[in-house]
Amino acid sequence: MSVKDKTLSVLENNKGDFISGAEIAKKLSVSRNAVWKAIKLLQDEGYNILAVNNKGYCLSIDTDILSPQSIDKYLKNDLVNFNINVYKSITSTNDLAKELAIKGEKEGTVIIAEEQTNGRGRFNRKFYSPKETGIYMTILLRPKIHASNSFLITTAAAVAVSEAIESVSNKEAKIKWVNDIYCDNKKVSGILTEASIDFESGMVDYAILGIGINVKPPKEGFTEEIQDIATSILDYDPSISVDIRSRLIAEVLNRFWLYYETIENKSFIASYKSRSLLIGKDINIFSKNSLEKANVIEIDDECRLRVKMEDGSIRLLSSGEVSIRI
Ligand code: BTN
Repeated sequence: MSVKDKTLSVLENNKGDFISGAEIAKKLSVSRNAVWKAIKLLQDEGYNILAVNNKGYCLSIDTDILSPQSIDKYLKNDLVNFNINVYKSITSTNDLAKELAIKGEKEGTVIIAEEQTNGRGRFNRKFYSPKETGIYMTILLRPKIHASNSFLITTAAAVAVSEAIESVSNKEAKIKWVNDIYCDNKKVSGILTEASIDFESGMVDYAILGIGINVKPPKEGFTEEIQDIATSILDYDPSISVDIRSRLIAEVLNRFWLYYETIENKSFIASYKSRSLLIGKDINIFSKNSLEKANVIEIDDECRLRVKMEDGSIRLLSSGEVSIRI
């Protein structure tokens, strides 16, 4: 790690407090001049670092720049050694994670972007990913599960994201089968899991779990297309905004990993069902060229939607085949 990265780590761990140049230099076993240079570089990157004679340096609490250091302080690193990588702007964190997976990158690699220029959702939809207000991240996984159980990854992630949102805000998070998280009846988060399957064994070779969360209202607002259906977690309550994106990322990673380690036990399914937005509701089912109406009875343990069609027949819907609107 460079002196700049190590200095950032010290400042992030003391965010809002002053720490002297001499103390930072001692911690890092470098000269005070090297610390000063690192501080200059960080300031040039946009970090709001106050420098006061006889007090030292202080990273302002309103600094909201994602970095491995800003996230690491909230991670339970005893779970797994996450390899966190943050980019200012990329096309899609799923695309980069997929490239790395093919090259053999290890499980637990996390790709995060401040902005995506081609963020993707299910059914090839776009995922609006404006800079510095949301979370766009992908976790590279190498689960030892059969392809038929790969739905568990999205399901565990949906519960982890819901719990994480509730842990950093005063919002209640609901899940719209299968991969959308809603607060106040509007979408705040979507999950896109893509997997590569070993043809011979039918086992998952790698999976990339992409998670997008609208955290702060985008500066330019949501696009016209989604402004009636999308919202963000924070409606500017400054008391909860400090480090909110970093805390939320760490909460998602910590919580997801606990479920993931014993994924086939399905310990999260009960919570998934109880958070469902759809049970008891009348829905529109879109598939290929048809639109049908139904009422949702339940979600079963395979995460299929059991619905009653208008003609009274019962159908089980699997996640890949249909799109649902309430
Ligand atoms: C959906 O709403 O259908 C799923 C949206 C998933 C968006 C996330 S953002 C991080 C990752 N990168 C992408 O391009 N998509 C996922």
